[in-house]
Amino acid sequence: MIRQEAEQRIIDLSAELHRHEHAYYVLNQPEITDAEFDKLIQELKRLEEEYPEFRRPDSPTQRVGGQAASDFAKVQHEPPMLSLDNAFTAEQLREFDRRARSLVDGEPVAYVCELKIDGLSISLRYENGRFVQGATRGDGETGEDVTENLKTVRTLPLRLEPVDGRVPPTLIVRGECYMEKRTLEALNEKLAEQGKALLQNPRNAAAGGLRQKDPKKTRARRLDTFLYQLVTADGFSVESHWESLDLLERFHFKVNPNRVRVQSIDAVIAWTEEWRERRYELPYEIDGLVIKVDDPEQRRRMGFTAKFPRWAIAYKFPAEEQETVVEGISLEVGRTGAVTPSADLRPIRIAGTTVKRATLHNEDNIRQKDIRIGDTVIVRKAGEIIPEVVRVVLEKRSPDTEPWTFPETCPACGAELVRAEGESATRCPNTLCPAQQYRAVLHFASRDAMDIDGLGEALVQLFLEEELIGDAADLYKLHERRSELVEIERMGAKSVDNLLAAIDATRQNPLYRLVYALGIRHVGERAARLLAEYLGSMEAIENATPDELQAIPGLGPKIAESVSEFFRSPRSHELLQKLRAAGVNMVGEKRTAPAEGPLTGKTVVVTGTLTRWGRKEIEELVASLGGKASGSVSKKTFFVLAGEAAGSKLDKARDLGVPILSEEEFLQQYGPF
Ligand code: IVH
Repeated sequence: MIRQEAEQRIIDLSAELHRHEHAYYVLNQPEITDAEFDKLIQELKRLEEEYPEFRRPDSPTQRVGGQAASDFAKVQHEPPMLSLDNAFTAEQLREFDRRARSLVDGEPVAYVCELKIDGLSISLRYENGRFVQGATRGDGETGEDVTENLKTVRTLPLRLEPVDGRVPPTLIVRGECYMEKRTLEALNEKLAEQGKALLQNPRNAAAGGLRQKDPKKTRARRLDTFLYQLVTADGFSVESHWESLDLLERFHFKVNPNRVRVQSIDAVIAWTEEWRERRYELPYEIDGLVIKVDDPEQRRRMGFTAKFPRWAIAYKFPAEEQETVVEGISLEVGRTGAVTPSADLRPIRIAGTTVKRATLHNEDNIRQKDIRIGDTVIVRKAGEIIPEVVRVVLEKRSPDTEPWTFPETCPACGAELVRAEGESATRCPNTLCPAQQYRAVLHFASRDAMDIDGLGEALVQLFLEEELIGDAADLYKLHERRSELVEIERMGAKSVDNLLAAIDATRQNPLYRLVYALGIRHVGERAARLLAEYLGSMEAIENATPDELQAIPGLGPKIAESVSEFFRSPRSHELLQKLRAAGVNMVGEKRTAPAEGPLTGKTVVVTGTLTRWGRKEIEELVASLGGKASGSVSKKTFFVLAGEAAGSKLDKARDLGVPILSEEEFLQQYGPF
């Protein structure tokens, strides 16, 4: 590259990065992935190193962050909240280590390795043990006051637990606010249902959550925290960063347990390798690891560059996002008729697996992102989350692509598709649609439903194609066609007999399995159990009015409506008729009259995870005391039994003044058991 070109490239890169910084930090609407951003900034850094005469004071490489957004009260960070320099390779880590050691005259340096949580950094202030202020990072100097919103984060202690019998007059601690993967997925599902834009990553989810005007909305987002930096704790002294993390834990902060203290950079590198794969086991996303010098005295001697501490570095994993091409868009019809589009991708490896398909969620998502067949796209796979198309790389779009339109007819049966008002899902209304039948039979046979051993995708497909069955109930008539089955390729007489026996055995299944197996919209296993237990027979469930259904503790209006709708359909009647005729068990054990005991006539709500009893066990225990365990807190709730990680029900109990018992208190008052 000649000098002139280098100068121009530096100017262009700076402008582009400024724009992205604004979109990312100020608007919370990134246009490119973090990995792409990092790539650009690395390129700029390299060029500025090679041509220092072109480096400007306002270059994105010379700045801590962006401007604080304006809506919330401002909070001044003292000292400023710095960010970290990045390392992408083992060699860069070694370079960091060499420099660090040289800054302390070659002394050995111990490192603490932590996970780099993908969220939003926050700073918390406690006075005399009480949480008084919480702020976002903002531009590092000035953040936003989000105290009220942070108070809704369940893991954040509102009061410090005294250590050695006391709390510091002032304590400042910093850490990360984040959202768990499954919470983010659930939220995105909801947003998709409402036809709203999806959240792109946990960082945006946390940022969006903390910036809600109404703290109740923040609470609903179920944000979480990990604290990792003790700034001030008057009157408490710690010898090392490692000790300070323990101290934070003793004050009852949530500190990430996945941390190690090591004595060499080799051990640091070994740790980075370990987490490259292990990170997918975590319930939250991490975008790297953070390596910190442990000794505060050494840290002091190492000091800071204009932008970063010299005693810490962020190690970034290779990107989990990849570019590939959309070769087609195909539709899948679910068992309730919802038609879900997905992208057929040119295969790529992401996060350790080969990805060939990515969900496109629904029509609106495709339209918003303007995803077309032939487009080059960024695909993301984060942990267990199904891969999805993040965005189109417009620069690479060929001029002959066309906007994609949702087909008007069902790909499986040709019925005209419908999209109900206010819904984002497009549906096939034909309950006889072979694709729906296929999904419905598969669901019927699945492990948590009727659990028909040996009946998988290939056989269901085959049976439907050969018209050996038309629906799930026909499975119970398959024995009449044993000779035909034996003729089928790869089905020997023995495996046919095994399958028929497996089907036969499911006639005696408990009622709730059948209720779940019917595949009623919104009725999962839990709801199926409730229906079976409270109503006692299929007939009673069929005849229950929506009001009666809703009276069952733990069943909401959505499920009640869906159950009624299901049983109103003639098609469902026919199916049940056939199942009845086949001798499939339609009755269960209705809950017997409650026992007499100290809780007779009382309703108790159990929330969180208990250490002694599972959910079912505690419900039975409450019943044996004469009480009823219910799913929702109201003024009438006798008490709430709260286990670990109890959530919104606890807040509600507090609001309503309902007594809250810990497991120990419950045991003391009502035990021994
Ligand atoms: S230490 C001066 N530790 O990563 C030290 N940061 O660029 C400040 N982060 O802004 C940060 N997990 O939002 C540290 N265990 C961890 C972290 C962590 C996530 C974030 C934080 C910071 C950025 C560093």
